[in-house]
Amino acid sequence: AVADPRALLLSRIRDVPDYPKPGVLFKDITPLLADPVAFTALTDTLAELCRRNGATKVAGLEARGFILAAPVAVRAGLGFIPVRKAGKLPGATLSQAYELEYGTAEIEVHAEDLTAGDRVMVIDDVLATGGTAEASLQLIRRAGASVAGVAVLMELGFLPGRTRLQPALAGAPLEAL
Ligand code: PRP
Repeated sequence: AVADPRALLLSRIRDVPDYPKPGVLFKDITPLLADPVAFTALTDTLAELCRRNGATKVAGLEARGFILAAPVAVRAGLGFIPVRKAGKLPGATLSQAYELEYGTAEIEVHAEDLTAGDRVMVIDDVLATGGTAEASLQLIRRAGASVAGVAVLMELGFLPGRTRLQPALAGAPLEAL
């Protein structure tokens, strides 16, 4: 095991100034994904969080959340649920709209892949405004499942995502590595 996983993960996140637009400091996880020791440490840490919180399924938020959540699901021995941007899922979907800085977005899930007994851990790379994560929790509950928690690699602490997420979490943990 890695002695200090958080320090390793932090060292593998690249700051890209003025991307995707001037004034934004983009947190690029591709160096972390390219480092098998760091990627494995992240996967193991998130899988342990799933176990500790009694998750039965792991949901990934498109697109970067997929990259993290799928290996976590395999490592934890749990099923994977893709939460997709609107219009990508072929079956009977539940949709949830949410506010962006300008306009709205919509995410969807296949309701039939979640059951009343499921406890879902939501995994993503970044919590920013919390809008995407909040909508995913609403989808999970609307599908009849319960929420084991939300786990993100990074929380942008200068934005009120954590506060926004509290009602939807309803006591479930928000873990930011
Ligand atoms: C980013 C990030 C989270 C979300 C966080 O995804 O990966 O999913 O935004 O923002 P929020 O907390 O303000 O909702 P993005 O929509 O850029 O999609 P991508 O992963 O497909 O690039």
